[in-house]
Amino acid sequence: MSDLITPSSTSSAPPSDVAGAATRIDPGITHRHPARVPEDAPAQVSTHHKRTLPIFSLEGKTCVVTGGARGLGYVMSQAFIESGANVAIVDLNGLEAQKSAETLVSTYTSSNPTSPPPKVTAHTCDVSNPTSVSTTFRSILASHPSGIDVLVTSAGFTENFKAEEYPHDRMQKLWGVNVDGTYICAVEVAKEWIRTEKKGGSIIMVGSMSGSAVNVPQPQAPYNASKAAVRQLAASFAIEWAGHGIRVNCISPGYMMTALTKKIIDEQPELYNNWVSRIPAGRMGNPVDLMGAVVYLASDASSYVTGADLRIDGGYTVI
Ligand SMILES: NC(=O)c1ccc[n+]([C@@H]2O[C@H](COP(=O)([O-])OP(=O)(O)OC[C@H]3O[C@@H](n4cnc5c(N)ncnc54)[C@H](O)[C@@H]3O)[C@@H](O)[C@H]2O)c1
Repeated sequence: MSDLITPSSTSSAPPSDVAGAATRIDPGITHRHPARVPEDAPAQVSTHHKRTLPIFSLEGKTCVVTGGARGLGYVMSQAFIESGANVAIVDLNGLEAQKSAETLVSTYTSSNPTSPPPKVTAHTCDVSNPTSVSTTFRSILASHPSGIDVLVTSAGFTENFKAEEYPHDRMQKLWGVNVDGTYICAVEVAKEWIRTEKKGGSIIMVGSMSGSAVNVPQPQAPYNASKAAVRQLAASFAIEWAGHGIRVNCISPGYMMTALTKKIIDEQPELYNNWVSRIPAGRMGNPVDLMGAVVYLASDASSYVTGADLRIDGGYTVI
C-alpha cells in the first residue's frame, strides 16, 4: 500500500468540503482538463420559447436530488429547475448544498426575470444513515408540502486501491454510501408514496458504466460492484413497486468531468488519454450531457419506462 495515498479518515463519511476529496489515488501523475467544472459555474441554459412536447415538462413537480451540492447532482438539479420543478438538494455538505441552492435560484431568476422563482431547499444528510435520511425526508416534506414527485440518488464516491490492499473499513464505507445510501433513500420515498397512494412517482438512481464494464487501468473493484448493485436495485425495485405506480430507472454515466474525475486526472495525467482513447465519442462527457436523460426519466414522457438502465457513456460499453 506504500504507493497509495493513505486515507485521512477511515471510518467517517468522506470529507466533502474539498472538491473530489473523497477520491483517493496514486499520487504520481496529472492532466489537462476544462478550466471550469460544473460546480464552478451553472450551465448556460438559454430561455426557450418554441414549442416542446408538454409531457417533458416538470412544471409543479418537486424533485429531490441526493449529492446535489456538486457534480452530476448539481447539474441534474439545474435541469429540473429549468424544466419547471422545485428542488430539494440533499447532501452531506449542508453548507455547500445551501450555496448551490442559492446559486441555482439566482441563475434561473437572472435569465427568467419575469417568471416566479423556483423553490430550492438544502438539507444536510448522510444518505448511508437511516435516521439521518428519515429526518431529512420529514424536513423536505415540511418545506415542500405538496409532496415529492421525483428522487435522484447521485450521492456516491469512488476510490482506487488494488483489491488485495483495499482497507476493509473503506470498502464498507463506499458500499454504505453507494449501495445502502441508494437503497435507504429509495425505500424512504417509496414508503411515503405507497402510504399516500400516490401514482406516478419516479426514482432515478445514478449508477455508472462501471456497473457493466470493468474500467481500466485503475483498480476499483468495490466501486464497480457497488454500481452493478445500484443497477440491479433499480430493476428489482421497479418490479416490486410497479403495482404502486412507482417507476424506478438507472442512469449509467461514462467518464464525466466533475470534481470527482477532475481530482483523478489531475493526479494521473496519463489516465486522461487512456480513458479518452477508449471512448468512441472521442471525449469525456460533460455533466450537461445528463440533463435531457434525467428530465426524460423524471417526466411523463417516460411513463411506460421502468427498470431500465440508460447508459450515457459516449459508446464506451458497446465495444
Ligand atoms: N463523475 C463521473 O465520471 C461519474 C461517472 C459515473 C457515475 N458517477 C456517479 O455519479 C454520482 C455523482 O458523482 P460526481 O462525479 O457528481 O461526484 P462529486 O464528488 O462531484 O459529488 C458527489 C456529492 O455527493 C455528496 N456525498 C458524498 N457522500 C455523501 C453521503 N454519505 N451523504 C450525502 N451526500 C454525500 C458529496 O458531498 C458531493 O456533493 C456518484 O454516485 C458517482 O459514482 C460519476
